[in-house]
Formats: sequence, C-alpha cells, structure tokens
Amino acid sequence: MHLMLLGAPGSGKGTQAVRLAQYFRLAHLSTGDMLRATCGEGGELGLVVDEYLKEGQLVPDHLVVQLVLDSLECNGTASGFIMDGFPRTLRQAKGCDVILTQRALALDAVILIDVANEILLKRSTGRRVDPETGRVYHLQFAPPPDSIVPRLEQRSDDSEPVVRERLDIYDREISPIVDHYQHQDLLTRVDGSGSPDQVFALILDRLGKN
Ligand code: AP5
Ligand code: MG
Repeated sequence: MHLMLLGAPGSGKGTQAVRLAQYFRLAHLSTGDMLRATCGEGGELGLVVDEYLKEGQLVPDHLVVQLVLDSLECNGTASGFIMDGFPRTLRQAKGCDVILTQRALALDAVILIDVANEILLKRSTGRRVDPETGRVYHLQFAPPPDSIVPRLEQRSDDSEPVVRERLDIYDREISPIVDHYQHQDLLTRVDGSGSPDQVFALILDRLGKN
C-alpha cells in the first residue's frame, strides 16, 4: 500500500502515520523527521536546514525531493510506504509523480486530515517529544507518564508565533495540492478533530478496512 498523509501542522499526521505504518507494515517517510535528522547531523546542510525549521519556513523543494528520493532508495518500496508531510507545494507533488512513475509505483490514497485552526494551535504548542524513544505526547491531550516529564523536549518550531507562521504557509500552499490529487481521484478528507482512536478508525474506514 502507498499512502500520503496531508494536513496542517498539528493535525495529527505523525500520530496517524505511526499507527498506519504499524497496521499495514509500511515504511513511515516523514520529511519533517528527515529534516530534523539532517539538522542533528550538523554540517553545512544541517545548519542551512535548521534556519528554515526554526523560522517555520518551507525548506526548498529540490532539497526535500532529494531527501524523499534517498529515503525511498534506503527503505525500498516492497512493503509500501506512508508519506507524512510531503508534498507541501505543487512543485513537490509534481516531483513526487515523476519519482513514483519512474519506479512504476502508484498511490492508493491521499488522506487529508482536517482540523480547525484554534485546535491546531493548542495541539502544536502543547506537544512534547521524548528524546529517548521519539514518542510524541501532548501535555493535555496525550499526557506523558510523570516519570519521563523532566526529560521531555519541545520542538524549536512549536512556539506560538512560529506555529502561526507554519499555519499561514499551509493555508497558502494546500489548495493547488488538493486540486492536483482530486484530479487524480485520490484525495479523501477525514475529520481530524476527534480522538486519535476515532481519527484512525475514520481513516481505516476510508481505506475500506473496517
Ligand atoms: P513537520 O515535522 O512535518 O511538521 P508539520 O507538518 O508542521 O506537522 P507537525 O509534525 O507539527 O504535526 P502533525 O500533523 O504531525 O501532528 P502530530 O501527530 O505530531 O515539518 C516541520 C518543518 O519541516 C516544516 O515547518 C518545514 O520547515 C519543514 N518541512 C517538513 N516537510 C517539508 C516539505 N515537504 N517541504 C518543505 N519543508 C518541509 O500531533 C500534534 C500534537 O497533537 C501531538 O502532541 C499529539 O500528541 C497531539 N494529537 C495528535 N492527534 C491528536 C488528536 N486526534 N486529538 C488530540 N491530540 C492529538
Ligand atoms: Mg509531524
């Protein structure tokens, strides 16, 4: 199965991608995670990427498309994949079409998780990440066990002003991407305002698995 998860910052792409990857045994390809790993490696590229991430700006298309290409090569495509947070621009979507066509791969579905902006802001600013396990929590909606609270970290782009900037960019870029996948009859919208379990059930339902 080859899936794509679209949605605004904080809509729950990562949360649902982890579940879908486990359920269908897919490689989880998150461009946000790849870019944070690039920053962690340091070096010139890491420093450049870090500037974009801290400001909440999109990393240039050619860098992101190359990262996706590399990760497809690394992970292979035999078991399928779920793309999380890619594409973010129409140019990336077209680049992705080329990559998939060259590999004779076809998407099964593009799922867009819809959530209202006031909820999105709360979800992002309350998010905390466990650096030891990579698990994502939320102070209110997915509370961590007390024992690990001292080691939890907040993402550098989860401050309110940066989240607002990321939401503005999403609102500017998403319409042509939606049109692109609607024309290919691949796009399905899911209400992401419920609990993670409810959203997961809705997605499975759309994929004909419930
Ligand atoms: P990325 O890491 O992809 O961030 P994002 O798209 O802004 O999305 P988030 O990861 O913030 O949210 P999410 O939808 O994954 O939600 P989550 O499940 O964590 O990208 C970061 C940056 O990298 C970008 O700003 C850009 O600079 C760059 N970048 C990435 N991809 C790029 C690309 N393709 N092109 C160019 N640049 C790119 O959930 C959020 C919180 O809510 C968590 O705390 C979670 O526990 C909680 N939560 C989740 N679901 C629910 C629910 N149903 N109910 C209650 N709480 C919930
Ligand atoms: Mg994410």
